[in-house]
Amino acid sequence: MKALILSGGHGTRLRPITHSQQKQLIPIANKPVLFYAIEDVIEAGAREIGIIVGPNKDQIIDTVGSREWDAGIEFIFQGEPAGLAHTILIAEDFLGEEEFIMYLGDNVIKGGITRHSHSFRDLDPDSLVLLTQVDDPQRFGVADLDEKGRVKRLVEKPRVPPSNYALVGIYFFKPAIIEACKSINPSWRNELEITDAIQWLIDNGHRVEASVVDGWWKDTGKAEDILEANRLVLDEMRPKNDGALRGSRIFGRAVIGKGSSIENSEIKGPCILGEDCIIRDSYIGPYTSINDGCNIEGTEIEDSVIMEGCTISNAGRIVESLIGKNVVIGENGRRPAGHRFIAGDNSEILL
Ligand code: G1P
Repeated sequence: MKALILSGGHGTRLRPITHSQQKQLIPIANKPVLFYAIEDVIEAGAREIGIIVGPNKDQIIDTVGSREWDAGIEFIFQGEPAGLAHTILIAEDFLGEEEFIMYLGDNVIKGGITRHSHSFRDLDPDSLVLLTQVDDPQRFGVADLDEKGRVKRLVEKPRVPPSNYALVGIYFFKPAIIEACKSINPSWRNELEITDAIQWLIDNGHRVEASVVDGWWKDTGKAEDILEANRLVLDEMRPKNDGALRGSRIFGRAVIGKGSSIENSEIKGPCILGEDCIIRDSYIGPYTSINDGCNIEGTEIEDSVIMEGCTISNAGRIVESLIGKNVVIGENGRRPAGHRFIAGDNSEILL
């Protein structure tokens, strides 16, 4: 089985982070979101993976290339995001005549997809879609199921949803989907929708089955979703301390990376600190991920994601924040007194 992982798009709802960083590389518990998808498809048996990349392709290629994977990985360039079904068309040569998993690279799911991969094999349909019950189905593709649990109809972002079963961005396909993607027209948002392609399969006598996700699932499209996915992943982390502690205490489950030093501070898990961080006179509270090379002094941080190389000093208490790479937050010791900002486009600062 092959896998197609989508890692393009502009990520506009995650600006300003996505002005400089592809959204699938945003870290959840210090690991790029995309790596969860790659690990899941490998665990489900994919040995050849095609990753769809967009304008920031070099970032993706470098980051994925920084690790060894137990599968062949090929990158497929999508010039402009023209819909999920469009990615299948540009990947046609890569996919050939094989079954494949399609996985949106900004999705994270508890416990991987092996169980669903077994259902696909056992039920042997033309497509198996993953569904989960949500409170706001209008934001997703929504499935209408028959009494046997088969998919009768799918609608993308319906105003009046036929059910609260949302399509999770993980799909299993036989090659018939390629003809389906060629046969549909662009939607109102001018995209070739995968939902329409799966509906085409149903309308043309192909069988589409559903598999319901039993644990949590997150589409990390917005900052709140990143923070929530971070909490969910940290909740399951095992503690490990490779750092050096001086005059500090750790409560609960914390992961502390190599070369990190914690002085005169309090760490309360679940949380993760990367490698080569310095934490001094600070408090790092639950649901916080601090990436490699950060320097935190005289500050309290809780329920936040801090990316690589940040310097934060005497910054009071930081909560529910998503902070990009190499950000400096500190005191304004100069005159005139007051808050001084050099904030990029679309930054959000709540004082
Ligand atoms: C896409 C799909 C939608 C699905 C969602 C899951 O939506 O079109 O059917 O429910 O992913 O994340 P988009 O993220 O393009 O709005």
